[in-house]
Amino acid sequence: MSTGAVRRHTRGRRAARPVDRCGEAVVSALLLRRKSTRGTLHTEMAFSPDQYFKAFTFAARAHGEQKTPTGLPYVVHVSLVCMEVIEAVHVAPGLDGDLAVTAALLHDVVEDTATSLEGIEAEFGPRVAAGVSALTKDAALDKQAAMKDSLVRILEQPPEIAMVKLADRITNLAPPPPHWGAAKIAAYRDEGQLILDTLGATSQHLSARLAARLRAYPTAGLDPG
Ligand code: NI
Repeated sequence: MSTGAVRRHTRGRRAARPVDRCGEAVVSALLLRRKSTRGTLHTEMAFSPDQYFKAFTFAARAHGEQKTPTGLPYVVHVSLVCMEVIEAVHVAPGLDGDLAVTAALLHDVVEDTATSLEGIEAEFGPRVAAGVSALTKDAALDKQAAMKDSLVRILEQPPEIAMVKLADRITNLAPPPPHWGAAKIAAYRDEGQLILDTLGATSQHLSARLAARLRAYPTAGLDPG
């Protein structure tokens, strides 16, 4: 009688334990995973999706039917630059993700479309407008002078703006078009090196990516053209 009671009691405990342990193990694993993910990968969003949507839509409307040199819609270039910046912000917490993402998405709208800086400021505020202004080359200067002038103005801006310029050149250092001669390829490579030397300190991640792109880029001496 008493034995039966003990058996029933024991069976009851034995039946309950694996379930409890299993539940505890699952909860522990979930907590551990959450903790390690938060601690090492910084999964929190560094920017607002609503801000991304607004800036990307604005850029898409502004660039309209423009194409990249390879014939893709221009917003493909814009989104690739933004992707580079998002990754760089992700691995270097403390930066202003909204500023970086918005400036990346809008970086060519003043230089390449009819959009004015006043229009940018009205929609996105003075910090974004100042960043886009620095990223816009002065059309009154010759090519080399315009690049140097823009780099000087970028250095006066928060690091997020320099990161956009690094990301822009990473994206643009794809294999050169077939019609480019050795001199043009060499000049473009040198310009990329100047951007790296001037702005590289603002992002270890992007400077490493740009340096790798420059190493892979053809040199004038090796170019058969
Ligand atoms: Ni660009």
